[in-house]
Amino acid sequence: MNKTVLDAKGLTRKFLEAPNEIVVLNGVNLSVREGDSVAILGASGSGKSTLLHLLGGLDNPSSGVVQLMGDDFSNMQERDRDGARNRSLGFVYQFHHLLQEFDATDNVAMPLMIARMEKEQARARARAILQKVGLGARMQHMPSELSGGERQRVAIARALVIKPKCLLADEPTGNLDGAAASAVFDLMLELTTAQSMSFVVVTHDESLAARCARRFRLIQGQLEEVV
Ligand SMILES: Nc1ncnc2c1ncn2[C@@H]1O[C@H](COP(=O)(O)OP(=O)(O)O)[C@@H](O)[C@H]1O
Ligand SMILES: [Mg+2]
Repeated sequence: MNKTVLDAKGLTRKFLEAPNEIVVLNGVNLSVREGDSVAILGASGSGKSTLLHLLGGLDNPSSGVVQLMGDDFSNMQERDRDGARNRSLGFVYQFHHLLQEFDATDNVAMPLMIARMEKEQARARARAILQKVGLGARMQHMPSELSGGERQRVAIARALVIKPKCLLADEPTGNLDGAAASAVFDLMLELTTAQSMSFVVVTHDESLAARCARRFRLIQGQLEEVV
């Protein structure tokens, strides 16, 4: 059986909105194995982003635990957690968050340079992955010179350049039209599957979600598998 990459047990997340406490997640369990693709569906405000932040160690649960490769994310020192996240997880958001003053290659090379890889080696690695996402002819383009779909491909390349164990994506195609959304979604599925990476994607597009191996829906703070 494949190794478990992310394991969430009994997650709750409450926010204090004085005088009320709102319970966004109420006992969520999710196990993601190597090579797994998981779509999370749910109405706006149902807690999808909250869940993804907990899975990525960007926020702390009110109770419950998240394990990443067997280590308890929720109880790590901040520095260890940042290190674990940077080594093992890639993130893609609805908006690309590329650095406007750097070209595609340098944007993709950035995580490697932050991890202290030598610049030319990092840029070579960035170029190779830009080829893979179909941007071989756009490597020196600035973000402002790229289409929406191309920018998301750069963001995907940047997330994958560190060879994470799992790609976490929050409405990654929410800002794209149908054809570009479909192509970008398939690209993420193909690249993660080809490298036995796991893929957890929040989307409210049912037809895109259907391409994943498993689907879940967040309803009233709980995650229900769609069968
Ligand atoms: N930092 C926060 N403080 C207070 N409430 C929050 C915070 N983050 C999210 N929420 C609330 O949690 C609920 C779920 O939000 P979110 O996870 O962003 O939903 P989704 O991504 O499914 O649209 C919303 O009601 C939102 O207002
Ligand atoms: Mg959201």
